[in-house]
Amino acid sequence: MTSIDLTDPDWWRQAVVYQIYPRSFADANGDGVGDLQGIISRVPYLTSLDIDAVWLSPFYPSALADGGYDVDDYRNVDPRLGTLEDFDELVGALHSSGIKLIVDIVPNHSSSLHEWFREALASPRGSAARDRYIFRDGSGPDGSEPPSDWDSVFGGSAWAQVEDGQWYLHLFAAEQPDLNWDNREVRDDFLTTLRFWSDRGVDGFRVDVAHALVKDLSEPLPAKATLPRQSESNGLHPLWDRDQVHEIYTEWRQVLNEYDPPRSAVAEAFVPAARRARYASADGLGQAFNFDLLQADWDFGKFRQVIKENLALAELNGSSSTWVFSNHDVVRHATRYGLPKDPDGAWQDGKAWLLSNGTEPTVDVAQGLRRARAAVLLMLALPGSAYLYQGEELGLQEVGELPAANLQDPAYFRSKGAEKGRDGCRVPLPWTVEGLSFGFGTGGSHLVQPKWFGSYSVQAQEGDAESTLSLYRKALAVRRGLQTGATLEWVDGVDWSLHFKRPGGWQSITNFGAAPIELPDAAVVLSSSPLEGEKLPSDTTAWLI
Ligand code: GLC
Repeated sequence: MTSIDLTDPDWWRQAVVYQIYPRSFADANGDGVGDLQGIISRVPYLTSLDIDAVWLSPFYPSALADGGYDVDDYRNVDPRLGTLEDFDELVGALHSSGIKLIVDIVPNHSSSLHEWFREALASPRGSAARDRYIFRDGSGPDGSEPPSDWDSVFGGSAWAQVEDGQWYLHLFAAEQPDLNWDNREVRDDFLTTLRFWSDRGVDGFRVDVAHALVKDLSEPLPAKATLPRQSESNGLHPLWDRDQVHEIYTEWRQVLNEYDPPRSAVAEAFVPAARRARYASADGLGQAFNFDLLQADWDFGKFRQVIKENLALAELNGSSSTWVFSNHDVVRHATRYGLPKDPDGAWQDGKAWLLSNGTEPTVDVAQGLRRARAAVLLMLALPGSAYLYQGEELGLQEVGELPAANLQDPAYFRSKGAEKGRDGCRVPLPWTVEGLSFGFGTGGSHLVQPKWFGSYSVQAQEGDAESTLSLYRKALAVRRGLQTGATLEWVDGVDWSLHFKRPGGWQSITNFGAAPIELPDAAVVLSSSPLEGEKLPSDTTAWLI
């Protein structure tokens, strides 16, 4: 049972946070799209997992050009998902079960249907309404070319033209115009939004593309060939991770600290580890996602290096590390770990989003699941907070076979089909073995669930002590009793293993190699796969005490 102290200002430091992608979690009204009442109906399930908090991906009114990350109205609920009253009910239901709630906030861009953008379109060049976004005249003799040759993250130009010939910047889809964070009204409006949800009882915020808000758009705009590599730009890239972005988060922190306990925040900032620290500073957002393990191949050396580096960073800035293997943007890790190893040993971008249509290598499902189970025990034994993505507790695989006509991700459309995009990890959860949408709801499912989904369902795993769901439940319960302090002591062992001790004598050993290894003389409390006699087999983690 959860027993988190709802008044503890440091609750987030060691929290297990479960990400809900609301349109794909549970559908109470049978329209094929998950909703807030669906989540409320599953609070007992969340309680049975023994998590500390839920992170809710966007549930705001949206035309869904980018799965809800195109927000029409930051202070309301999409009518397909419910109402503000439903939201309040959800907060109440979670809190009375001892579960905190973090919501997503999307400050880099609004949607093109936001009232500000509509006003900008209806207003002339140079108007105050246009100044809330990033409008520029085009290049070329008649201005018919975009102001620069920059690409959007989802492919194609980062500029779109409006009726009067001007262009606006969109780092993501064209339906996601970038806001102008030099504009005081924009800054103030987000402070209002932070207060709006904090007043409604939200405990924290996940800040979408936190590193993109401040841009240097002084003319002439540099050509993309001259832009520094993001990972090496050290604050000098015109679009990403500029030092001045932290002024915004200092203001946010002041607002978040008006509350008791202060509201937490975690930055989604794809920046090098050393630059992540500022996002996670106490006078900034407080915590930042570390995607290093998510990007690492299943390799003990790489894992050890990432863990050491991130624990050292957390110690330096007084934050806590975050660990994550899956989220709504990447191929599920039970599938990633079943892919053949990259020839050069490095995780490649192609694994983040599903590989181009029809070119996926064969997935070794059994190996992927075995490693995913070992990975989660390793992660949960680390100091810091762990972020889980809905369905990983079922060992769910990526859905690679979604029909093209069903795909929703703008990355698919903007890459003209070269990228399959992220829909395969967003398919609605299977709750039951059979049934129209495997218990997701009484209607269908907005992304087509494959036939094999039922075998991964909650119902299929409930009574099975060896299931992945049972492993997660046991691990989370054991962790709650053992997780204390922020220290970790490495133990030397065979080369292909990771062995460390935590306060209280808790030990975790992972065998990344092929040959079984000896276990130390201590009681095994949990293992991700059955032991081989007294030995720890390949791709397995054991906890001992
Ligand atoms: C973040 C979100 C992703 C979204 C993008 C644009 O990376 O996690 O889903 O597409 O921002 O908002």
